[in-house]
Amino acid sequence: MIFGASGDLTQRKLFPALYALAYRNLLPPQFGVVGVARSDMTLDEFRERMQAAVEEHARDEFRENVWEQLADGLRYVRADLADAEDDEGIVAALNDLDAARGTGGNRVYYLAVPPSAIEPIVLQLGRRRATGGWTRVIVEKPFGHDLESARQLNEVVRSYFDESEIFRIDHYLGKETVQNMLVLRFGNGIFEPIWNRQFVDHVQITVSESLGIEGRASFYEQAGAIRDIVQNHMLQLVALTAMEPPIDFDADSVRNEKVKVLRAVHTPGPKHVVRGQYGPGYIEGDEVPGYREEPGVTPDSMTETYVAAKLYVDNWRWADTPFYIRTGKRLPRRETTIAIQFKRAPHPPFELDAGEELRPNVLLVHVQPDEGVSLAISAKVPGQGMTIRPVHMDFLYGGAFRVGLPEAYERLILDCMLGDATLFTRADEVEEQWAIVDAMVAPWKRDRPHFPNYAAGTWAPAAADELLQRDGRSWRGR
Ligand code: NDP
Ligand code: BG6
Repeated sequence: MIFGASGDLTQRKLFPALYALAYRNLLPPQFGVVGVARSDMTLDEFRERMQAAVEEHARDEFRENVWEQLADGLRYVRADLADAEDDEGIVAALNDLDAARGTGGNRVYYLAVPPSAIEPIVLQLGRRRATGGWTRVIVEKPFGHDLESARQLNEVVRSYFDESEIFRIDHYLGKETVQNMLVLRFGNGIFEPIWNRQFVDHVQITVSESLGIEGRASFYEQAGAIRDIVQNHMLQLVALTAMEPPIDFDADSVRNEKVKVLRAVHTPGPKHVVRGQYGPGYIEGDEVPGYREEPGVTPDSMTETYVAAKLYVDNWRWADTPFYIRTGKRLPRRETTIAIQFKRAPHPPFELDAGEELRPNVLLVHVQPDEGVSLAISAKVPGQGMTIRPVHMDFLYGGAFRVGLPEAYERLILDCMLGDATLFTRADEVEEQWAIVDAMVAPWKRDRPHFPNYAAGTWAPAAADELLQRDGRSWRGR
């Protein structure tokens, strides 16, 4: 059952993912979907909308027989569980599916609704839990608005559902390249011995998007970049980069190690956090409006669309090694990368050309696009003399495996149906993430930066550059 069935996420991600699973015969024949939203729609209209969504966004060609199999199990219910005990239609649709397809009372409730609608829906669902079969609840991010609301939401959800039934989704964890961080680190012998403060100079994590807010003003005005990306995707990337090897690849072993990292993150002071908001500018030659001119945004909005910060993970492995993070909308390109910059070779035994110096090695994990891993090393330019240039040793998914990468939601929806929570966020993990974010935003109540402070299509505020320049470093890939 998908709450939020008329929404953006359902159309752009969830139905295309379900279609990809059906396309590969990964869904059981009994599978069916009840869509729930407040919008008035007939079942035929709902089917048409979802078909159009699949045709537009699925990664596979559209096949009538695959779609028919999915469409047959669709139901649509107009209901507003946040306002009323409006669930007669829901119960009837579920009973109907149970009878028609033999779903045996097994339920996944996917809450693809705005954060404010989650708690009331959970309350209603919890009070009317089905007795037969298993029940699982997927809750979209951001889980809460701050530490206090996340704790309260955790309390509500856990008073009706066991932790093993709660799947707090962060779709970054479903990305192949993010999962590959664990294999890169713990499936290879050569990286771990140097993956620490003795060899690593610093880490840079970038989640940049050229997109703006895509009509999601009501959500984004509340969230901003810090709650939309830093609290979840970004801190998960930090945790996966910094964590110790788990003893097993099961849900608790992996999450225990991530929580330790989050607990060790030193609260950055105001000087170590930069925020920004885009003004008008150009993306790939096209003129785009500033954030304050986006439909639904107030003309004096102080919502940040960019955040950069310097974090420290205070433990033996990482003490004094900065983790620089940055994320923003309307930056020049879409790119998510984790860059591990190693310390420079201590002494060049050869004479370098004037003005040249040895470049440090950098291990670059390209989360997206051009998914892969590359290692920057120094090499001698062929010919007389000793001219040195950085070159890259590359692994590209496209070249190595020759299969399309699955979308994160495919993996995560299937894992949830199989009851595997390894790639979902545990209650304590979410709360630790909020504790970091709450500390970062606390000083924001006191000062009003001059927004907008970067033009769309540029690499963000000067203060973000200064954050690294003060440490004698600079952001990669400008
Ligand atoms: P939208 O605003 O596009 O959709 C929200 C959906 O929730 C609509 O279908 C709306 O339908 C429904 N809804 C709202 N209130 C209620 C209610 N009280 N009862 C039943 N249905 C309700 O948002 P998105 O789809 O973009 O986002 C949904 C969630 O997914 C958010 O938490 C967001 O953070 C998360 N998310 C979104 C991503 C994206 O790319 N869009 C990516 C990752 C996470 P109606 O008005 O018809 O009721
Ligand atoms: C979502 C955010 O969680 O992630 C969006 O709400 C953002 O604002 C999206 O655009 C980015 O996801 P991806 O998979 O395109 O990097």
